[in-house]
Amino acid sequence: MDVAEWKQPESEPGVAATAENAVVSARDLRKVYATGSERVLALDGISLEIPAGHFVAIMGASGSGKSTLLYVIGGLTPPTDGTLLVEGQNLAAMSDRARTIFRRRRLGIIFQEYNLLPTLTARENVALPLLVDGQSLGACRARVDELLAKVHLQPRADHRPDALSGGEQQRVAIARALLNDPAIILADEPTGNLDSKQSAEIWTLLRQICGERGKTILMVTHEAHGAAFADRVIVLKDGQIVGSFEPKGGGDAALVANRYQELAG
Ligand SMILES: Nc1ncnc2c1ncn2[C@@H]1O[C@H](COP(=O)(O)OP(=O)(O)OP(=O)(O)O)[C@@H](O)[C@H]1O
Ligand SMILES: [Mg+2]
Repeated sequence: MDVAEWKQPESEPGVAATAENAVVSARDLRKVYATGSERVLALDGISLEIPAGHFVAIMGASGSGKSTLLYVIGGLTPPTDGTLLVEGQNLAAMSDRARTIFRRRRLGIIFQEYNLLPTLTARENVALPLLVDGQSLGACRARVDELLAKVHLQPRADHRPDALSGGEQQRVAIARALLNDPAIILADEPTGNLDSKQSAEIWTLLRQICGERGKTILMVTHEAHGAAFADRVIVLKDGQIVGSFEPKGGGDAALVANRYQELAG
């Protein structure tokens, strides 16, 4: 792959980083879902470069392709066309096993529904990726407890999910996503089930994780308040990037809402 090729994505120069520090480089990504005779073009020529350590929010109407973009970048579903490098790796060219290992080690994924195991405590849920790998809880307990403290949940470590609020459950999921010290956190509407106070706690936490730990974060959100925490907002419409902008100064949800309306409206 010629590095120079990646320097200037044609369709979205505003999302460009230099190829050298881009942790995600996508070029002309297309994704077609085929169910029976129906074909849905979910991604229609996405080109973007995301620099390491950036917090990027992805906005767009329902069905615009936000989750699909996240799942393609996360190697959960392959693109139909185009090229994608994540940390310089072409996930589509990897074996299933290599891709699974890459995902487990380098990516942390957070979903709207938290995806915690109901029979495990918060501590066990955070430790789960290492328990699955054959480690004992004793061996990883210090690291798990450090992460629980990071998300302000140490007093709740022995609670099961049904004894935790939605915001607390999502913080367990964030701690779990950090366990393997991934380079990239992918979050699909992480606050979709939360009230405004709990949502603000999650966004603040993600912002901190990005700054303190140098993680790259891609977060799908419908909420201008959440997108205002990001370094850059990318707006999707009908599977295409219709624009991107920097929410200057952070925290200005009204500005984000206006710019979003201009682009997506
Ligand atoms: N597994 C699938 N099979 C067929 N079509 C799909 C599949 N997943 C998504 N789609 C379609 O692809 C398009 C993009 O879907 P996607 O889930 O990426 O949208 P989204 O922007 O995340 O929407 P929402 O805000 O509602 O979550 C939609 O038209 C959707 O119906
Ligand atoms: Mg979605």
